[in-house]
Amino acid sequence: MDRDFFEKALERWEELAIRGLRTGEKAECDAPDALERIIVTGMGGSGIVGDFLSDLANHYSWPFEVLSLKDDRIPFRPREGDLIFVVSYSGNTLETLSVFNQSCSASRCIIVTSGGELLSRSITSGKCSLRLSEGLLPRLDLPEILYSILSFLTSNYKIPNIKAESLDDSIVIFKEDLKHQVNKLAKRFMISPPILIVSRPYFSVAIRLKNDLAENSKLYSSIEFLPEAAHNVVEALPYLSDPNRIFIVTGKYSWGNIYIEAFSKALNGKTSYIELKGDSLLQELIYGYRLSAYISLELSSLRGLNPCTTENIDKYKEELGRVLSH
Ligand code: F6R
Repeated sequence: MDRDFFEKALERWEELAIRGLRTGEKAECDAPDALERIIVTGMGGSGIVGDFLSDLANHYSWPFEVLSLKDDRIPFRPREGDLIFVVSYSGNTLETLSVFNQSCSASRCIIVTSGGELLSRSITSGKCSLRLSEGLLPRLDLPEILYSILSFLTSNYKIPNIKAESLDDSIVIFKEDLKHQVNKLAKRFMISPPILIVSRPYFSVAIRLKNDLAENSKLYSSIEFLPEAAHNVVEALPYLSDPNRIFIVTGKYSWGNIYIEAFSKALNGKTSYIELKGDSLLQELIYGYRLSAYISLELSSLRGLNPCTTENIDKYKEELGRVLSH
């Protein structure tokens, strides 16, 4: 697996999103009539879907809560109105299997996976699953994961501002040309890694970019959330050896965001921007994840590294498996 594999998978993102849409629409899974809370549990490239749904739910005041959990257990007792999405692309992530074991016998769970142990356990225990395409890396199947869950939700519940037909419309964003922005930002991040500043409703884009830079470009970057960062970190930023590292993630819902304006003024305007495009928040988020994937791919080439390999994540998983099997 190398750059070519990665690029080919990215070229399939539109098709993967459409597959996800259809999977979610057709699924006949048991879910609460009066949905109160969605708990999304998964790690890394699978777990990011929880942040994505949180951004949408917060912004549009969905009638149910969304909790994104990246852990090996749910730290409270699920209630009758809860629906748990257990997401693991490989189906073999130990933390996620642990949540399944702990919580799914007594609660409503929907499994999102391409196979592995999680699929076997869901079949044995009669749990419903949204099946993902096989043969990809977890982080490269992002659109299928996002759209399968989102379309399951829009097909089964009335969700303000996100309707089944607007999901179909959102797919055009996969055609947006990103070349100029990708080249500019990859070159800039090559000089020094970004400090990403982000405010609602774009948290998930900054989280994804930080993770993509780590996994694909092997580059450490950091995120600061507004308004909190304006109460502490803002003091340290002017002392950076390269103050041009500060990038604020913005989109059309950043206009009039008083926290961003005041933060930027406090730094005498010494901030750059990563601008998201799209007609809706959904499109802007998808635009952001694509941008993130292509920037990190470009940067991996500039650094002479393979975007597909994740040696240390693999070692961690092996070690964890060894310790737990004793
Ligand atoms: C690898 C990647 C990782 C995985 C994570 C959990 O492409 O993105 O962040 O997503 O290690 O593995 P899965 O997704 O298989 O549960």
